[in-house]
Amino acid sequence: MTGRGGPATATATTPWNSVSGPARPGTAIPAPIRAVAAGRPVRAVWENKLGGITFEVGAHADRCFVKWAPVASGIDLGEEAARLSWAVSFTPVPQLLSQGADHAGSWIVTAALPGQFAVAERWKADPGTAVTAIGAGLRAMHEATATAACPFSWMAEDRLADTRQRAAEGRIDPASWHPAHQQFGIGQALELLAEIPPVDRLVICHGDSCAPNTLLTDDGRWSGHVDLGSLGIADRWADLAIATWSTEWNYGPGWDNLLLRAYGVPPDPDRTRYYRLLWDLGP
Ligand SMILES: Nc1ncnc2c1ncn2[C@@H]1O[C@H](COP(=O)(O)OP(=O)(O)OP(=O)(O)O)[C@@H](O)[C@H]1O
Ligand SMILES: [Mg+2]
Repeated sequence: MTGRGGPATATATTPWNSVSGPARPGTAIPAPIRAVAAGRPVRAVWENKLGGITFEVGAHADRCFVKWAPVASGIDLGEEAARLSWAVSFTPVPQLLSQGADHAGSWIVTAALPGQFAVAERWKADPGTAVTAIGAGLRAMHEATATAACPFSWMAEDRLADTRQRAAEGRIDPASWHPAHQQFGIGQALELLAEIPPVDRLVICHGDSCAPNTLLTDDGRWSGHVDLGSLGIADRWADLAIATWSTEWNYGPGWDNLLLRAYGVPPDPDRTRYYRLLWDLGP
């Protein structure tokens, strides 16, 4: 799921158009999640802008996470399950334990990765460590999966075709765009997006490289990635543009270059601009 939303003070994703963030106290627990828990403690930890909720189940060696998406969200978590199952042999991502669907929604159950996400209070208080780990983690993921044959695409061409389709169906609302993009109407934005920059380097992109999707161990190193529903082949700047952008709304301005140094690449303003606009028009 794309990582967006939340007020700037939340540990969330893009603040300008929606609300992802820590789950609200008293969040209802759907029946399939109770069944997975089988008597173990259940805690709602995260709610995304589409009403999807992630629950932490258990507290010890069998601790796991259940991500649930309501039917109304239009999200099929089977796509994330397929990507997790593919990626787990190459790079640290959660092991898929089970998946399911019923009339109300779909869910995936994953084994817990070690540590806490990069926007836990302790990492928000230490952005240098978190941002360095995010950059290093993204580089490691790109390197680890680089030579693997991947059945999933996140290429700009495919995303642009989807964006055009949603524009034609009236499903894009410029009012939800970042202030930097408000100067464009849909027509002009689509014209800009038609000029896809030449590929810098094709890698297997994470697909939602926002800060909350990297986990860190207590020593400040990345331990793995979650939220892989859009993983696929693309130019590495599709991830880098969003990873750097996400530092702004999670830690404040001025962390972009540290992330790029930790990744090991000089800034690329043109590709960064392009992929941020493509993201903003995305689902
Ligand atoms: N297997 C796991 N191990 C550790 N933490 C996990 C795991 N799965 C999920 N989480 C935690 O739950 C949070 C929410 O999961 P995830 O990012 O997949 O949900 P999402 O709703 O798609 O998020 P977004 O708001 O970014 O779209 C993650 O940021 C992470 O902190
Ligand atoms: Mg996420």
